[in-house]
Amino acid sequence: MSEEYIKVISSGPLHGEVSVAGAKNAVLVSMAATLLADGESILTNVPISSDVRYMAILLQCLGAEVALDEERKLVTVDTRSVCCFTVNPDVMKKMRASVLVMGPLLARFSQAKLVFPGGCSIGARPINYHLKNFKKMGVEIHYVDEVLHAKTKKLQSCRIALEYPSVGATENILMAAVLTEGTTTIVNAALEPEVLDLIEALQCMGARIVICPAAIIQITGVTSLKPMNHSVIPDRLEAGSLLLAGAVTGGDVFVTNARAYDMDIFLMKLQEMGHKIEVGLNGNGVRIKATQLPEAVSFKTGPYPGFPTDLQSPMMVAQCLATGTCEIHETVFENRFLHVRELQKMGAQIKCISGSGLACSVGDCDKVQVTGVEALYGTNVIATDIRASCALVLAGMAAKGKTVMTGVDHWRRGYDQLDKKLIQLGLRISIQPVDYLIPSARNAEHFI
Ligand code: EPZ
Repeated sequence: MSEEYIKVISSGPLHGEVSVAGAKNAVLVSMAATLLADGESILTNVPISSDVRYMAILLQCLGAEVALDEERKLVTVDTRSVCCFTVNPDVMKKMRASVLVMGPLLARFSQAKLVFPGGCSIGARPINYHLKNFKKMGVEIHYVDEVLHAKTKKLQSCRIALEYPSVGATENILMAAVLTEGTTTIVNAALEPEVLDLIEALQCMGARIVICPAAIIQITGVTSLKPMNHSVIPDRLEAGSLLLAGAVTGGDVFVTNARAYDMDIFLMKLQEMGHKIEVGLNGNGVRIKATQLPEAVSFKTGPYPGFPTDLQSPMMVAQCLATGTCEIHETVFENRFLHVRELQKMGAQIKCISGSGLACSVGDCDKVQVTGVEALYGTNVIATDIRASCALVLAGMAAKGKTVMTGVDHWRRGYDQLDKKLIQLGLRISIQPVDYLIPSARNAEHFI
């Protein structure tokens, strides 16, 4: 557990305008893709979160020179000194996105050595789709203890059908294919905005990639790529969370650089709840004017353009305070309801439903039934993953009294100073060192 906690005190309706950082899930894969070219790549609009720092360390361990400019939100990666294809196991275990260097390393060195990625508690998160299809591209995979050694004489282009449009597998295969002679086709590819952002970055490097109808991506290999110079897209997940801050406090929030056309289903659900949504020209900028009498709406997560699983827990909070009952069906990750217990501690009425419709425990269900309550009550809660941390902060701003959340490392992994943006909107939120949690005369006032 990190040596910090977040304290949230309900502060009434939030008002004002804010802008979001670059997308975490876009910048991480683009940083990995810099390995595909020799030279200095530049990424701008970079969110300065701990996951970005982990990726920087991972690339440095491979020999790259990486400079993170927090002020100017940019990162430069000079790959000319990259000399290693063994990924640092400590970083690998901290962050699942580390697996995304596998494709670029295979393209660059025809080899990659790594341990199984760690990551959140939201599911088993195997990498079988990545490995199965690398094998189709001519890669041999051996295991020595827990170390996976992938090796190929020469990557082969081929036709790949993904049984599930996995974001990570699509991105890894894409990056392996851009320098592979011939045409590689990915059928049932993931087309999340972050995947499209990677494709744009690779095309700027000189890659030949076309997206065809029915989620098919065709990559024609080239012999070399030039370094990347790319500005990362705004974070639709942070934008959604800030709009929900307006919704759960009954406020009025304008996210100036939110891309509405990256979040159609989510915005539609907010409108179904009765919130007024205004979209700027060409979908740039989204404003929410919250209704004081929100209606509960059911939703089901799925691959893009479906409802994003990363906004499932934040959107659940809005249902906890809405009128009526709804169902939330999580179809992407098998263990993404750990925040339910914490919300129940705050007074939320949430029932887990098994496949047969019977009540069951949080770990065994993919569906919950939420019945709106008059109020939530601040208490001590624990964040179990990145998006759960956001959900609990949202619950805290809507709850009566004070909420103290531990598990702040998840918050820091996913967001770049989101707390500062919430303060800008009028929220009383602070990140405090943990020793304030140990009862003493000096910190009595911090306790609920
Ligand atoms: C990416 O994870 C994101 N992470 C996740 O965001 C996001 O929730 C997810 O896509 C879905 O949108 C990054 O981009 C770094 P998947 P990824 O491969 O690539 C199963 C956050 O909070 N699967 O599309 O891991 C898998 O277990 C994070 O920012 C296999 O079974 O997602 C899951 O159930 C959380 N075998 C489903 O597919 C595989 O080889 C979707 O996974 C690969 C995936």
